[in-house]
Amino acid sequence: MQETDREIMDVQAIKQRFEIIGTSPLLDRAIDIARQVAATDLTVLISGESGVGKEVFPKIIHQLSARKHGPYIAVNCGAIPEGTIDSELFGHEKGSFTGAHDARKGYFEVVNGGTIFLDEVAELPLSTQVRLLRVLETGEFLKVGSSKVIKTNVRVVAATNVEIPESIRHGKFREDLYYRLNTVPINVPPLKDRKEDIHLLFRKFAADFAEKYRMPVLQLDPEAIKLLVNYKWHGNIRQLKNITEQISIIENRREINADIFSKYLPVTQYRDLPVLYRSEEDNKGISERDLLYKVLFDMKKDIHDLKKVVGDILQSEGTTKDLSSSKSHIIKNIKEDDFETLENGADHFPLHRLPDEQIGEPIQESEVIEESLSIQEKEIDLIKKALLRHNGRRKNAAKELGISERTLYRKIKEYHLDS
Ligand SMILES: Nc1ncnc2c1ncn2[C@@H]1O[C@H](COP(=O)(O)OP(=O)(O)OP(=O)(O)O)[C@@H](O)[C@H]1O
Ligand SMILES: [Mg+2]
Repeated sequence: MQETDREIMDVQAIKQRFEIIGTSPLLDRAIDIARQVAATDLTVLISGESGVGKEVFPKIIHQLSARKHGPYIAVNCGAIPEGTIDSELFGHEKGSFTGAHDARKGYFEVVNGGTIFLDEVAELPLSTQVRLLRVLETGEFLKVGSSKVIKTNVRVVAATNVEIPESIRHGKFREDLYYRLNTVPINVPPLKDRKEDIHLLFRKFAADFAEKYRMPVLQLDPEAIKLLVNYKWHGNIRQLKNITEQISIIENRREINADIFSKYLPVTQYRDLPVLYRSEEDNKGISERDLLYKVLFDMKKDIHDLKKVVGDILQSEGTTKDLSSSKSHIIKNIKEDDFETLENGADHFPLHRLPDEQIGEPIQESEVIEESLSIQEKEIDLIKKALLRHNGRRKNAAKELGISERTLYRKIKEYHLDS
């Protein structure tokens, strides 16, 4: 009994110290595992949906461990470009690659005696996973471009919001590394499994924002509370916090009813669009983005349909020779590839490829290029907007865009948006 009391006290103390809100038994259990494992040197894998609050766990583990006076580094594996990640983690020798003017120590060397937090670990490239496995198993690693073995004493805590077994099935994550990382798993529960904490969290954030913006605290009426608790918070605590902030700033009144509250909850009808940019619901402006994509995809479909019509004309007339000059101009501008796309593409239009001489002049790409340019421009525009909205914080911008930080980084470089 005494032991249990002590343990409960410890979990409570941890919550206070690390400002963790919630009374859910699942949350307490996760904190308790972190507390117990802290004293060991075991590797820990923290998993849980996006926005559930994983990032505090490696801090708890480090602070409650004997390493607490040693260094602590958090590395976002998704944010580091593939080309430099090995060098960041393990260091490099002078001249080991173009631009390596000096030798550099990597995090695994710098953090010797401390803890390294590998956030978004599933984003690590496979080649880096091999190096990581080696350092976890032997405490040894090689700098990039060096054959000298370096020893280090680093405790690794990793986190992920993706299902790693799924990544293993897709050949993106090494199974051996997964088992090695997952020595102690900690699962941070999503809000849907800790509904009892939702109103508590809302009140805490409402109080924080009231203080920050020097306003009276928001109050929800009973209907609004029902909505709050039953809403599907796909973005979990991060989303709840963002929406509480939006309401705090935008609403003049402080008593919020269900009608007002529902205005801030994103509508999800386009959530399952099969596009690159998977919808995240945790930011304002999302529905605007979804709409934009719908418009783009509708436009793309229209172009596709248009091509089919032109293709049909070609097929029925058999040749471009009889067509009026304006029509033949359009047809000449259709790439030969388009016929392949139409023939082999998802829609399987029953078209036959025309002999080259019937297509006419060397192929121009104007139509196709215009189409892709317009999508590219929209993309650049959206990236700029997202960066602006998040004050240049790429992590948050990437989240809103529904792409990985690495992809965002690449696109910023590609479109020269970093100047
Ligand atoms: N229990 C909690 N009490 C108060 N605030 C919390 C709690 N858990 C998370 N938060 C806040 O919610 C936000 C999201 O948490 P965090 O960044 O740790 O999410 P995450 O699990 O790492 O998500 P992702 O996988 O998307 O990176 C942060 O602002 C954090 O401070
Ligand atoms: Mg995180």
